Formats: sequence, structure tokens, C-alpha cells
Amino acid sequence: MTLASPLTAGRIAVTGSSGKLGGYTVADLAEAGYDVVALDVAPAPPAVREASVAALAVDLTDLGQVVDALEGCDGVVHLANIPAPGLRPEGVTFTTNVAMNQAVFSAARTLGLRRVVWASSETTLGLPLDTPPWYAPIDEAHFPRPESTYALSKVVTEQMAATYARWTGVSHVGLRFSNVMTIQDYRDLFPPAWDDPAARRWNLWSYIDARDAATACRAGLVASEESLGGAGSAPNVIIAAADTCMRRDSAELLAEEFPGVELRREVRGTQSLFDISAAERVLGWRPEHSWRDEGDALI
Ligand SMILES: NC(=O)c1ccc[n+]([C@@H]2O[C@H](COP(=O)([O-])OP(=O)(O)OC[C@H]3O[C@@H](n4cnc5c(N)ncnc54)[C@H](O)[C@@H]3O)[C@@H](O)[C@H]2O)c1
Repeated sequence: MTLASPLTAGRIAVTGSSGKLGGYTVADLAEAGYDVVALDVAPAPPAVREASVAALAVDLTDLGQVVDALEGCDGVVHLANIPAPGLRPEGVTFTTNVAMNQAVFSAARTLGLRRVVWASSETTLGLPLDTPPWYAPIDEAHFPRPESTYALSKVVTEQMAATYARWTGVSHVGLRFSNVMTIQDYRDLFPPAWDDPAARRWNLWSYIDARDAATACRAGLVASEESLGGAGSAPNVIIAAADTCMRRDSAELLAEEFPGVELRREVRGTQSLFDISAAERVLGWRPEHSWRDEGDALI
């Protein structure tokens, strides 16, 4: 099988474009010169309107609408989903997400899109950690450990992605995003956790800056087939910041909150307790932002 060329240009659909991560992703891809089509059931927010891209109202659970909407695209960055447990009844979260993800993968297959990048989640790895992790730093092999129907929908979708990738020879890149944060989130959410480590121990004090999550989507489009593992690959990689949201040493926090959990390699200072080396190896992506760079107001 010949290897498809990476998508360094062309027409890219971004689903979930009216959402938290969608706006950053549309802006990043438009800035990088892609011809972006924004797809969401909700109206386009200012970030999408300012990027001056085409925007279409679509219900992505409806395969017919998805096929219509993706026609003429070279690739898709699929972010639309119910984005967390507890927002909708459990069964609705599962069936809606799986229906949406299947429709997008199926439409991409029908239309011959050349790359699918989609939002998986750190929750596939055992979050929230009401029971301790098997080990730390958590890496891609700390899987599958869904603890909610939301996480289960992502685990099932990772299997679907692998299947569609095998059927089509088109790589499907799954991004296991950590908790996505804006600068305002840093102000609202991190300081209260500094004196209360239990507040954010559920994900080992991890996060991802929304701007870095957007560049990870672009890295998924431009990564070569070779680095993804060959034509029809379906790698799923952790996308997290290089540090924690805390001011105390990570190893010390782990020992205190999860006594007895093995620390498999040295973690220095406030370094993340998630291993992000696979994303660098497979996608050539590294986070560039930390809450620590956002000014004295936070510290
Ligand atoms: N926010 C996080 O911390 C986080 C962490 C890990 C993974 N993720 C994943 O990243 C993705 C984006 O998350 P987000 O925080 O931007 O979520 P969000 O809720 O802000 O955005 C999701 C968007 O999808 C749209 N959508 C939902 N159902 C739809 C449908 N049937 N048809 C068309 N559009 C529909 C919504 O209108 C919304 O604009 C999701 O897949 C989520 O599961 C998010």
C-alpha cells in the first residue's frame, strides 16, 4: 500500500467548532493556511467568526448530514462529543458519542478523506482516580480503564478508529487530551487546589493548555504515515502539559495522595505525572504553554 502524504494543506473540517477546544483549533488551522470548515450544531462563537471560515450547522449523529458536510474535505479534526461524564444521563452520553464518532468515521471512509484526527480522552486511562493508578507516570499502556460511560465511549471509539483505519488504509489519530484549560481556567481552578491536593488528585494534577491542544490537532494532520506506524495506523497518544497544576513536587504529592503507587521513573520537581513522550515520538508534538508563564497574578 502506498503511503498517503501528510495533510500540510487542504480543506479540513473541524467538528465541535463552537466548543471550548473547537474555537482554538479553528483559529490555529486557519492561521496555518488550511481551508477550514467549521461544523457544529451550535452557532459559531466569535473565535470562529473572526477566523472567517465557512461554518455549517450540522447534527453529527445523522450520517446523511455528516456525509454532506464533509464532502470536498481532505481531512477531519473531530472534536464534537458530549465532553464529560455527568452532563447528560449516562446512556445518552455513551450512545450519542458513539453514534457521532461512527458517523464521522463512516463518512470519512465513504468520501475518501486522507486523515482523521479525533478527540479521545485521558479518562480512558482510569480517571477519575477514585482507585489508585496502577503506576506512575501514567502512559499509553495504562489502558483500558474506563470509569464512566463517557470514558467507555472513548475506549469503544479507539477500537472503532483502529477498525476504520484498517478497512481504509487511512490513519486515524486519537488524542487522549488531558483537562483542557484556558488562561481564565488557570485563575479560577488552580489556586484553590494548591492548599488542597485532594481537589485535583483525580487526574494526577494534570492539564493541557487549549492552545497546545489545538497544535496537537494540527500535528495529527501533518504527521507522516511512517511516524504514525504506517498506512492505516490508529495511534492514541496522551496530550498533556509538561508540568502539573501544583506548586509542590509531583513525587511528593503522589506519595502523599497515593501511597504505595510505584513511580517507574524519576519525575523532577513539578514535572507531569503523565508520560507525554509518545506524542513527541509519534506526532513530533510538544506542549509550549504552562500556567506558570501566565504572570504573577497566578502566583
Ligand atoms: N474539555 C476537556 O477537558 C476535554 C478533555 C479530554 C477530552 N476532551 C474531548 O475533546 C473534545 C472537545 O471538548 P470541548 O471541551 O471543546 O467540548 P465542548 O462541549 O466545549 O464542545 C463540543 C462541541 O460539540 C458540539 N456537539 C455536541 N453534539 C453535537 C452534535 N450532535 N452535532 C454537532 N455538534 C455537536 C457542541 O455543540 C459543542 O460545541 C470532546 O470530544 C471531548 O470529549 C475534552
